[in-house]
Formats: sequence, C-alpha cells, structure tokens
Amino acid sequence: MTDKSLHEKTVWITGASRGIGRAVGLALAGAGAHVVLGARNTGQINHAADAITANGGRATAMELDVSDHESVRTFAAAARDAAGLPDALINNAGAGVFRPLENFLPDEFESQFRVNVFGTFYMTKAAVPLMKQNGGGHIINVSSLAGENAARMGSGYFSSKWAVHGFTRCIFEELREDDIKVTLLCPGSVDTRFHHESHPGSHDNKDQSWMVSPEDVAKTVLHVLTLPPEALVSKLDIRPQRKPK
Ligand SMILES: NC(=O)c1ccc[n+]([C@@H]2O[C@H](COP(=O)([O-])OP(=O)(O)OC[C@H]3O[C@@H](n4cnc5c(N)ncnc54)[C@H](OP(=O)(O)O)[C@@H]3O)[C@@H](O)[C@H]2O)c1
Repeated sequence: MTDKSLHEKTVWITGASRGIGRAVGLALAGAGAHVVLGARNTGQINHAADAITANGGRATAMELDVSDHESVRTFAAAARDAAGLPDALINNAGAGVFRPLENFLPDEFESQFRVNVFGTFYMTKAAVPLMKQNGGGHIINVSSLAGENAARMGSGYFSSKWAVHGFTRCIFEELREDDIKVTLLCPGSVDTRFHHESHPGSHDNKDQSWMVSPEDVAKTVLHVLTLPPEALVSKLDIRPQRKPK
C-alpha cells in the first residue's frame, strides 16, 4: 500500500449500516479518511454518514447489496466518481443463520454463501483494478474465528467463513507483488445485532456485555490500516478476554 496518510485515503466499507461496519466507518472517518459506506438499509447508512459529517468528517453513503454483482458494479462506479480511487476496502458485510442441518432451507444456506463469499469476491474483483491504477491498496476481509472452527448448527455460517479464509489467503499470494495488502481479520464474539439476526427469537434477552465491542474491532482495523507500507498484518484474531459465565 502506498505511503499516504489516512487523510489522503478513500476507504470503502461494506455492511456499514450497523455493528462492526458502522463502528469502522466512524473510526476511520474520525482519523481523517473519506469513507464510502455501503449496505442495503439506506436509512441507516445515511444516518451513519450524517453522524460523520456532523463531526467534520468525510462520508458518502451508497446503497449496496454485496450478493448482487450488478449492485456491486454500480456501487464501485459511483464510489469512484464520488470519492476517487479506493485505497482500502473493508469487506465486512456478513450474514449468519444457525440451524440443525436438516432444518436448513436451501435458500437460507445459500444466502450465507451469497453474502459472505460471493459478496467478498464481487467487491474484491471490483476494487482490485482501481487499486492497481492507484498504485496499491489494502483489502481487509472481516471473516470470523468461525472460519477455522466448527460448531453445531453452524454448518452454513462456519463453512462460508472457511471459504472466506481460503479466498483471502489465495488473494494475499496473488496481490502481494501489486502492493495490495490483504488482511484476514477474525473476530470472536462481538456485541452487535448479528446474534439476534442469526438466532431469531432466541437471543433477545441474552447478556452480550462480555463480548468485544464493535469500537474495539474498529480500533484494530485503524491500527492495521495505518502501519507503514512495508509492514503487513496478514491475519489477526480478536476475541473476548473471558468466556461468558
Ligand atoms: N458479531 C460477531 O460476533 C461477529 C463475530 C465474528 C465475525 N463477525 C463478522 O463481522 C461482520 C459484521 O458483522 P456484525 O457483527 O457487525 O453484524 P450486524 O450488526 O448484523 O451487521 C451486518 C452488516 O452486514 C450488512 N449486510 C448484510 N447483508 C448484506 C448485503 N447483502 N449487502 C450489503 N450489506 C449487507 C448489514 O447491512 P444491511 O442489512 O443494511 O444490508 C449490516 O450492516 C460479518 O461479516 C460477521 O460475519 C461478527
């Protein structure tokens, strides 16, 4: 990645409407980057962008469905026009459904691969030529510790994150000589809506205070992005200090 300060950089962030992506947007814009926030919920990304600009930061909100190749192409073209060539891409958008194997509907199972795997591929494919034009870049794929572990009811989510790990390691090898850094970021449990969305109805009153905060994940992203050009964090795990009681 080129030796620019964050003030000179444009960063695309997927899944920026809430949770980790929103926190990353606020942190990077707070440190001077121009952030392009993408997600399907335009009300929420506009709200996040407004919070950034109200504090003097630079943010552009754009509708994005990472699982739809055409939506990704439209996003990439509009983001380039609005904010210039991307210096970094945070592939953060993700979805999980947890069920016993026999209860999975094929579409539910596939949707996790469409968002987590195909979405990461479409976004990376759109960003890489622009990063090459820009003289380098940095791609951070927000995977999960699920990408190297196994759990009951996680056959869809965990296997999709295993695929993200494999994809990330391959593109790391492929893009290294183009000065495009690739980082695999693997959070453990993070205190976001993810757990409510992935366990509908059964997570509502659960205590999440023991989990890592999205703001702490965002601090990690900021650190990884601001290392000098010769230093690359290729993989990083961040997990709660203590397990739940
Ligand atoms: N929370 C955890 O414990 C945890 C642990 C490890 C890894 N992760 C990973 O961290 C990432 C962020 O998760 P989170 O915890 O912040 O979850 P979250 O609060 O549920 O946020 C998920 C984000 O992804 C976006 N998204 C979902 N489908 C999308 C699509 N098709 N196109 C564009 N955006 C889409 C959502 O926005 P819209 O609905 O507006 O599109 C939302 O902004 C995910 O990749 C997740 O797998 C989370």
